[in-house]
Amino acid sequence: MARKQKEEWKVYNSVFDNFTNRRVFTLSTQGYFHELRSTIGPGKEAIVFSAAKTSRDADGAIAVKIYRLETAGFKKMYDYLRVDPRFSKLGKTSVGDPRRRTIFSWTEREYRNLLLARDAGVRAPMPLAHKDNILLMEFIGHGFEASPLLKQARPHDPEDFAKKCFDMLEAWTRSGMVHGDLSEYNIINHDEEPIFIDFSHSAPLKAPNSRELLERDVQGLCTYFRKLGVECDAHSVMTRMIEAYKDEEK
Ligand SMILES: Nc1ncnc2c1ncn2[C@@H]1O[C@H](COP(=O)(O)OP(=O)(O)OP(=O)(O)O)[C@@H](O)[C@H]1O
Ligand SMILES: [Mg+2]
Repeated sequence: MARKQKEEWKVYNSVFDNFTNRRVFTLSTQGYFHELRSTIGPGKEAIVFSAAKTSRDADGAIAVKIYRLETAGFKKMYDYLRVDPRFSKLGKTSVGDPRRRTIFSWTEREYRNLLLARDAGVRAPMPLAHKDNILLMEFIGHGFEASPLLKQARPHDPEDFAKKCFDMLEAWTRSGMVHGDLSEYNIINHDEEPIFIDFSHSAPLKAPNSRELLERDVQGLCTYFRKLGVECDAHSVMTRMIEAYKDEEK
């Protein structure tokens, strides 16, 4: 290992457990990326890093989202996953540590949701790979500079930006899915184009409680855009979403 890499390694070693450090190392030796660079988003459940694709910075970055294995939120994750028909087997297996099993499924679900989002025509980071508690995806930004969240970067044309967000939400709903955690904190303003992120809560609309999650997403977006002077009636947006979903069910 090069000296610089060794030094950086020490820093990450102190942040993560041995298991996670080994996974990061494996993914890097498998050629998914060269080295982790800096944290973009240290959240409660996960930390997102930028990582250099190769030893040449000109080749750009990918985003590496690492779920903390010690997260206290894993019980909530389990409750959300259990009602997702795609993960209903989770509670029935006793293989491995339940906490880890839940976090790995949570990571896998985000990967699968990102693939579905792209298929549905929703602008979201391209997922590249997942391994246990680590998700690799396209980096949204320029070079190593991540684009800001909508929360940090108010759109120049709120009306137009809101329209794009609701069109994407409609596409996602039409494909039978709900985001479940949509807000100005999980939308990136990339050169005035919305990019939805953080798809780990995303579930099929046929799962129980999904309607409430959709309502929450719609309410949240409307509240945000109304503050920017955009007319937004949550009730009529909800009607539009339900129509889109019904169309697809026919
Ligand atoms: N693909 C990406 N490209 C650039 N920046 C990203 C990307 N994904 C996430 N980020 C940044 O990292 C931050 C955290 O990401 P994200 O919202 O996915 O995780 P989180 O909210 O910490 O996790 P969770 O809610 O799942 O615990 C985001 O707010 C955003 O600033
Ligand atoms: Mg988030």
